[in-house]
Amino acid sequence: MHVLFATAEFEPVVATGGLGAASAGLVAALRRHGIRVTPVIPGFAPYELEGEGRVELDVAPWAGSVTVRTGHHAQVGPIAVVDAPGLARPHPYTDPATGGAWPDNDRRFFTFAAAVAALSRHLGPDVVHLHDWHAAAALAFTATGGPPTMLSIHNLAHQGWADPEWIDVMGPRGEAFRQLNSVNCLAGAIRLADAVVTVSPRYAYEITTPEGGHGLDRLLSEHRGKLWGILNGIDADEWNPSIDEHLHTPYDAGGFGAKVHNQEALCAELGLATAPGPLIVAVSRLDYQKGLDLLAEVAWMLTRIPARIAVLGSGEPDHEAAWRYIAAHGDGRIAFTRGYDLGLAHRMFAAGDLAVIPSRFEPCGLTQMQAMRYGTLPIVSDVGGLHDTVVDVDADPVHGTGVRMHQVSPAGIVDGVHRGVRLVGSAAAAAARHRAMTHDWSWDTAAKGYLDRYAALVPG
Ligand code: GLC
Repeated sequence: MHVLFATAEFEPVVATGGLGAASAGLVAALRRHGIRVTPVIPGFAPYELEGEGRVELDVAPWAGSVTVRTGHHAQVGPIAVVDAPGLARPHPYTDPATGGAWPDNDRRFFTFAAAVAALSRHLGPDVVHLHDWHAAAALAFTATGGPPTMLSIHNLAHQGWADPEWIDVMGPRGEAFRQLNSVNCLAGAIRLADAVVTVSPRYAYEITTPEGGHGLDRLLSEHRGKLWGILNGIDADEWNPSIDEHLHTPYDAGGFGAKVHNQEALCAELGLATAPGPLIVAVSRLDYQKGLDLLAEVAWMLTRIPARIAVLGSGEPDHEAAWRYIAAHGDGRIAFTRGYDLGLAHRMFAAGDLAVIPSRFEPCGLTQMQAMRYGTLPIVSDVGGLHDTVVDVDADPVHGTGVRMHQVSPAGIVDGVHRGVRLVGSAAAAAARHRAMTHDWSWDTAAKGYLDRYAALVPG
């Protein structure tokens, strides 16, 4: 079995969020199961490859000269990188100077998609697996009768809208991409792919409802018969508190008393008070989806419960400004670090008593699993992958691993944090921590799910 795996992000080569971690985690797990996988990514930068070979791809003239480099990346293994006019940029999607999307993102990612289709013709894989809107339009440039195709949706909020003029450029299958008289990359691929997979079972259901469908719920309902939810995993070696080099004091499920030392070290690092109350951590993109603006609204109230809060993240400038202000006026009980800092994220999950994840929607979410692996009990919105990974201790004391909020709102967060703080101080906390830390969060289960789906697509 040979899978061509097209994605815009692949850790550690290029990643802005969960897509990069998910691509890398899934490909590594599939390879452990003996599957040949060729990941293909856009050449946003020159990425060094060993044993490099270059092939000119057969794409339509509008795309310009498009080539693919295949070789071996030191951390990733075999990988293919598409080089084309306009792809190389300092950030994959947005202009750091303005914070807005690159104005030519439609052309850039249609070029990538056309390159993926051409590479598929060149390599003749058994399955073509396309991730998110950046790769989805490959189906427009693929003739019928090619290898079976799978679309993975990591986030339905980003659909790849473009002007209707692109439909003619796309060719005979372009019409499938028409949505509200524009082009919608995900909509087209939902129509044309042989299978559609999203990153948790709960999200697979939610996206067929008007509340969770981002306007595509009816289309997804029509295609329910080929829609699957397979829960993501996390990299169980990278996220392993017993061998984690980022930590002040490594520990395992038998010795989570060491969390106290990690918490003291983190407080010193962040200039945070060591008391009173438990430490709540949040590691997140700061955007509408993640709901940290709701947390910001009640942060001062939470310090009176009492609790302390440490936030790491970056994103919307007004969310960042709000957190900077709150931290500056938080009597040392609130810390905010702007950025995407993996080492600090590890230290925060090692130090925290609780992690809060108040997402308005969440296809899967990785940080709740990372937190649980470090014995930090999550307080989550009851949506998507958060619903599928966190068991509420009050509803199910025997299996509970955290708190599911009843409502995604400031009041819901206050209530959830109250319950979380009570849990941390109770006799049930140790058992919940132990369950959370010893659960298998690895990619192995997910890989088996994908293998079944690939097998179902390949004839014979
Ligand atoms: C996106 C989603 C997130 C998911 C990740 C990996 O970032 O927002 O929920 O975990 O993709 O699939």
